[in-house]
Amino acid sequence: MINRKVGIIGAGAVGATAAYSLAMMGTCKEIVLFDIAEGIAQGKAIDIAQATHYAPQPSIITAAESPADVKDCDIIVITAGVPRKGNMTREDLLVINAKIIKSVTQDVVKYSPNAIIISVSNPLDVMTYAIHKITGWERNRIVGMAGALDGSRMAYQIYKKLGYGAGQTGALVIGDHGQNMIPLPQKVHVGDVPTTDLLSDEEFQEIIERTKNGGAEIVKHLGTSGYYGPGRAIAHMVEAILNDSRTVVSCSVLLDGEYGYSNVTAGVPVILGKNGVEEIVQMTLGTKTREKFKVSVESIQEGIEILEKNGFCN
Ligand code: NAI
Ligand code: 2OP
Repeated sequence: MINRKVGIIGAGAVGATAAYSLAMMGTCKEIVLFDIAEGIAQGKAIDIAQATHYAPQPSIITAAESPADVKDCDIIVITAGVPRKGNMTREDLLVINAKIIKSVTQDVVKYSPNAIIISVSNPLDVMTYAIHKITGWERNRIVGMAGALDGSRMAYQIYKKLGYGAGQTGALVIGDHGQNMIPLPQKVHVGDVPTTDLLSDEEFQEIIERTKNGGAEIVKHLGTSGYYGPGRAIAHMVEAILNDSRTVVSCSVLLDGEYGYSNVTAGVPVILGKNGVEEIVQMTLGTKTREKFKVSVESIQEGIEILEKNGFCN
């Protein structure tokens, strides 16, 4: 891609950390931040721009004054949303965030009509579905970030068990970005050695549970969700697309018959390249994993039904 311009909508903890990570890698020519809250995008853009003085490559970091300034981007990252508060139900949160996603996505369609969208806001799979419906774009151009983060959390848990192999461990989590996610530690390798030769069934179970609680564990310590892991995971996906590296990453994508499901978004391994999702990788799943995948997909479909009930899919 010639412009290598990335727009980040929602310059909160995750959006700004993604921008910082991209700036420190020198991945983009230009990053533009937008946030509805006054001063956030401006302050963070200045701070990150000053940090680029010591980056390996220059990048231009700016703040948009209005959605119209986030224009002609190659990639748009959507991290706008509100966290769950007080007595809000999951359904309340879903509807509030869907409204935000709708307005933000309509601006993306207007001002960056050729972009690839990386969706991040929660509930991730359902918001990714909403973006498909709102844009009406080809499905390869909308990709949800979840497996990249959950996979890194799984690799971390494997490293903690073994005490070696940091950076050499596979990352494979499929399904939803929630309690029904399916970490597959038994399918990956450390170096070139299958984990099935290194870990016991009990250890696999512990790794699976800890991966599923990876986000909650951070909230327990910080009182807020993580942002370094998510920010870096987003940057990894941006790099794969801008560099057309055809990297395999688990992402939430719209299924059209793959894994036996259609008209639902769910996390599966895909090849990321210049067109976004170049291909969905079809793994053979065992009976137990297929059952778990069904439960996971059904939990996403429940969220999609709420979207439909509230008129977001028309
Ligand atoms: P945050 O609260 O720090 O940032 C969200 C930002 O969105 C705020 O600055 C807010 O002002 C902005 N915003 C709200 N409405 C907007 C609009 N209409 N236009 C532009 N900006 C708007 O939250 P954080 O921690 O950055 O998380 C962002 C989202 O990402 C949340 O929904 C969170 O649950 C989700 N998340 C998803 C992950 C994943 O793996 N998919 C991982 C981590 C977070
Ligand atoms: C996480 O997994 C909250 O989705 C966010 O940290």
